[in-house]
Amino acid sequence: MRSGPFTLLLSAFLCTIGCSDDGDGGAGGAGGQGATSGTGGATGGTSTSAGGTSASTSGTGSATGGTSTSTGDASTSTGDASTSTSGTGGSGGGMAVRTPAASANSLREAGEKANPPILIGAAISGGGLNNGDYKRVAAAEHNYVTAENEMKWDALEPNPGQFSWGSADNIVNWARSNNMKVKGHTLVWHNQLPGWANSLSGATQVEQAIRRHIENVMGHFKDRIDTWDVVNEAVITDSDTGVGNPRMRPSVFFNALGDRFLDLAFEIAREQDPNAKLYYNDYSIDALNDKADYVYEMIKGMVERGVPIDGVGFQMHIGPPNNEAGGADVAANLRRFADLGLDVLISEMDINRCSNQVTAEEQLTYYHDIVEACFVMPECKAITFWGINDGRSWLNGWSGALCNGQSSQSLLFNDQYQKKETYNRVMDALMGR
Ligand code: XIL
Repeated sequence: MRSGPFTLLLSAFLCTIGCSDDGDGGAGGAGGQGATSGTGGATGGTSTSAGGTSASTSGTGSATGGTSTSTGDASTSTGDASTSTSGTGGSGGGMAVRTPAASANSLREAGEKANPPILIGAAISGGGLNNGDYKRVAAAEHNYVTAENEMKWDALEPNPGQFSWGSADNIVNWARSNNMKVKGHTLVWHNQLPGWANSLSGATQVEQAIRRHIENVMGHFKDRIDTWDVVNEAVITDSDTGVGNPRMRPSVFFNALGDRFLDLAFEIAREQDPNAKLYYNDYSIDALNDKADYVYEMIKGMVERGVPIDGVGFQMHIGPPNNEAGGADVAANLRRFADLGLDVLISEMDINRCSNQVTAEEQLTYYHDIVEACFVMPECKAITFWGINDGRSWLNGWSGALCNGQSSQSLLFNDQYQKKETYNRVMDALMGR
């Protein structure tokens, strides 16, 4: 059962409101002028074979670390690892699997005892940490933290060259005191930018601003954070569902630098920390669709050009507005990225039930099967849920999610911080059930 390909069938969803090119709320992003078609990101070198190049260029060997360990234990594992394109025994051609824990009392324990281990994360907000129940559940069940908003550009660099660390430090220090790792989120993103950054123009100005931001932010957290979302959401399609006309997103970064901003951001990040894991992160690339295909080619091009990228985060916001309509296969999608020699991660999972486009039963199935699709792959390094409890979900208050004042019922804990059935289904998947 566990290794069977997972097919995510969502009935076709038509975007009814808020179908902007920005699937994801928050502050206003780039205004988009020129729709330069921008396929260049996908077209770098074509000659080298993918995986091994990236692993060795990035100097971390990260994508391949845990893989070989797991093969010994896995009954389904075969000698096929040698056929892997990476040439490192890394991706194992899809044959290696992760072995679940024999027993576990929490999600994080299930992740820690799996072989190889997998990180179980949550988006944590500064406000949440004022609540005792929130803190208790967050630390008991997770060992990986993403700051929900506190490490975005507008929070960290509100004025040019002037940094504000307080709220982010608070979260990072709380995480570390609970033996949780932290992912930095996010260095270069069109959204939640301060006004001054959004009005930069010209290649030199924009490049300098990117450099100063990455150097200061990574420098500040250097000894405390070793995984980073370097670039977030650089691609758009006509619909939020990842379908139709995939292309580079107009933004202050793309408008000034073209596709080059992606490579540049990763190169600067690598200069700052030779050992950090550097990730690209995006929404509606979770299953097989136009946007995922485009991002796959874009990332493959980066790998082939030797750009220091270590992995891809699949946000996994399922339900309105990011439904991925049609028969789409999460497992096959994760697999093709991993076969580039990269880590893959579920980075922001929630399943929005607003407007009943996802039924309670479908939600349980999706939670189980999507977590399973990641869990069985040793290259899948983390599963992060976008929040702790329903009452605090960002979806409740974002018009794009169509909640209209209702609860999105999107997470694993209810308003009283009790485990929901969604929790049980996730636990089942982590335990190989
Ligand atoms: C969201 C936060 O959860 C909200 O509180 C905020 O208002 C907007 O941003 N993709 C991302 C995350 O990468 O940073 C977004 O977080 C959700 C979508």
